[in-house]
Amino acid sequence: MGDPHRVEEIIKTMQKAGTSTIQVISDFDMTLTRFAYNGKRCPTSHNILDNSKLISEECKAQLKDLLNIYYPIEIDSKRTAKEKLPLMVEWWTKAHTLLVQQRIRKDLLQDVVRESDAMLRKGYQLFFDHLLEHSIPLLIFSAGLGDVLEEVIRQAGVFHPNVKVFSNYMDFDETGVLKAFKGELIHIYNKREGSLLNTGHFQELKSRHNVLLVGDSLGDLTMADGVHGMENILKIGFLNDKVEERKTAYLNAYDIVLVKDETMDVPNALLLHLT
Ligand code: C5P
Ligand code: MG
Repeated sequence: MGDPHRVEEIIKTMQKAGTSTIQVISDFDMTLTRFAYNGKRCPTSHNILDNSKLISEECKAQLKDLLNIYYPIEIDSKRTAKEKLPLMVEWWTKAHTLLVQQRIRKDLLQDVVRESDAMLRKGYQLFFDHLLEHSIPLLIFSAGLGDVLEEVIRQAGVFHPNVKVFSNYMDFDETGVLKAFKGELIHIYNKREGSLLNTGHFQELKSRHNVLLVGDSLGDLTMADGVHGMENILKIGFLNDKVEERKTAYLNAYDIVLVKDETMDVPNALLLHLT
């Protein structure tokens, strides 16, 4: 923590305000899912599909080339968000174009997720169940693939009614084959709750003025922008990669920084305290 006193004050204020005033906004990939397990990287929702049987070997190689070019840019602490933004849009756009060329079948997505190495962080069950038990809405705001991530939480048995997902969704033709992506692209630098509320989505979030934000990228920090009448926000950031280079920036931006922590223990402890 950069400022433990501030964290303590926010927690006290939120606790007094009560659970009916709280909403949780969380990123998905590398936040609700693990970054690594037994020393091996875990897949993002994009990677789950990229590495699957639905993708040709040639396309897999192309997607891997894109990852090798753009992921180092995503986590480069020497470039500003402004410099990175057009490159990130380029990555997402190229990857989505390749995926559409693969004629992916909707009915096979369940198998793909089942056969993948997708892994939610240790303690995810308590996190999701506790929020349900206290009727606290959880908005999962992801620049990943909505269809894939929903299947991950469905198969884990935690896609509870209080969970709302905003992400990139696939558009299938009448035979169930991927033909495009729906709506405006969500990438790591345009996540804002305000833009959702303006479209009439998730109106129930409007009465919740205290926010627990959980993310892993500095781009996740804007997820709560535009929250109606925001009173307090506590930001928890997972710092998974390039720790030494990025520690200062994360400590300046997030209230609590979790370094190479593959569990939900800290968010869970906070929630138990708040409820
Ligand atoms: O859920 P979240 O918003 O974290 O999803 C975005 C993540 O997906 C990024 O951090 C990025 O590394 C990853 N990504 C990917 N393949 C792409 C585009 C993004 O793995 N084609
Ligand atoms: Mg993420």
